[in-house]
Formats: sequence, C-alpha cells, structure tokens
Amino acid sequence: MRKKIVAGNWKMNNDLAQTDLLLTELMQRMPSTDAEVMVAPTFVNLRYAYELTRKSNIEVMAQNMHFADSGAFTGEISAEMLKTVGVNTVILGHSERRSIFGEDDALLTKKVDTALAKGMKAMFCFGEELADRKAGSYFSVVETQLSNVLFHLKEKDWQQVILAYEPVWAIGTGETATPEQAQEMHAFIRKTIAEKYNETIAGNVSILYGGSVKPANAKEIFAQPDVDGGLVGGASLKADDFAAIIAAI
Ligand code: PGA
Repeated sequence: MRKKIVAGNWKMNNDLAQTDLLLTELMQRMPSTDAEVMVAPTFVNLRYAYELTRKSNIEVMAQNMHFADSGAFTGEISAEMLKTVGVNTVILGHSERRSIFGEDDALLTKKVDTALAKGMKAMFCFGEELADRKAGSYFSVVETQLSNVLFHLKEKDWQQVILAYEPVWAIGTGETATPEQAQEMHAFIRKTIAEKYNETIAGNVSILYGGSVKPANAKEIFAQPDVDGGLVGGASLKADDFAAIIAAI
C-alpha cells in the first residue's frame, strides 16, 4: 500500500531562529495523522531541525544534493553528508532547480541514482510548463520526464522513489490545478508506470501534487484517488496553514 505524505519545501526561507520557531509551532499544532509529514529546511539548518524534531513524527529532508561522493565541487553537498546529519530523503528535480540552475534530465538521473545507491529516498519532482499545458502536450512532456530520469530503475528501486507532480504554472502563482486536472495527470502517471513496469509498482508509489496547495484547496485535491498527498511551498512556511493541510489528508 502506498503512503500518504505531506511535505513542506521551505526553499531559501527561514534562518535558524525562524526554523526553531516554525518547527516548534508545527509540533504544537500537529494534527493526529497516519500520513508521513516531512519538511525541507535549508542545508545549514538540517541538523538543528533534525535534533529538534527527533521525537516528533516530522521527517527532515533536503532540497537538493550533488551526485558525487566527494571532491572538488565547491558549494555542493553529498548524500553521505546528508545521511550523517540524519537526512534520508532528498527532493530532486524541483522546477526551480531546473529553470534557475539549469538542471536537466541527464544530471537528475545521476542524482537519483546516487540517492538510491546510498539508500536514500528520492522525491522526484516533474511537471509541465504553462506553454505545454496550453499546447496540449502536457502528457507527453510528463511521460518524457519520467522516462528520461526514472525508467532505467530496477523494480526494487521504486521502493525508494516518491513522485511529486508539480505543474510549473501552479508553483508559487496562487493558481492551482483543479482537483480534476490533478487526478487526470496522476492517473496518467500511474498508468504510464504500470505499462513500463507493472500494476504493483504503479500502485505502491506515492504521487504527491504540488503547486499552490493551501488549507482552502487541500481537502479536495487530496480526496482524488490517485493523489497521495502534497508537496507544499508557500503554505508550509506558516505552522497554522501547514497543520491545516496535514489535517486535510
Ligand atoms: P507552492 O510551491 O506551494 O508555493 O506553489 C510548491 C513547490 O514549489 O514545491
């Protein structure tokens, strides 16, 4: 059975004091839930966040990592470094990494391979841009992103994969995919995986929706049969909002 997951991507927000405050408030307001709850603070606060939330049901994850084990990669962070501070899940392929930092499918393939080889979980993000949506090519864009980066994986590798479908036009824009649009794409993703692999793998992988998830729309989106939770940006920066989104699953 696949897991329900609500994950907060803090992006480049929250210094140390703000990290402390937000996590403390979140732990106080945490609704009882069967879902996995994750937050992704900035690298420099990962260890602090891990220590603070150790006894809670919040998992701390990273927003990115490098594919190499170590070496001359100034400014980069390796999988081992993340693991030694208690981080076992990493977001890869976020649209901001793709569009602002030029990460392409070839690079993301290496990152996913490294994360899985190191025993980490990869939360792989993908999704079409507005032009693709308007042109009607969004299914093929998503299929290509999945197949370029993930379809060389072995069946057993999929236990370490979490998918996050994030239509780029809905990220940080206040514009959300309708529940029907989300369901339509999530069902397509599952069908595509079932065709490449099998129904079991397709049925067991968690597929999160991301893009302007808020307390006001979370319930409807999470109610869709193929939506297993959300990757939340802006609304994860307020404890009340994030707690309400967790309660909606
Ligand atoms: P948003 O961001 O919720 O602010 O749209 C989602 C994301 O970037 O993961």
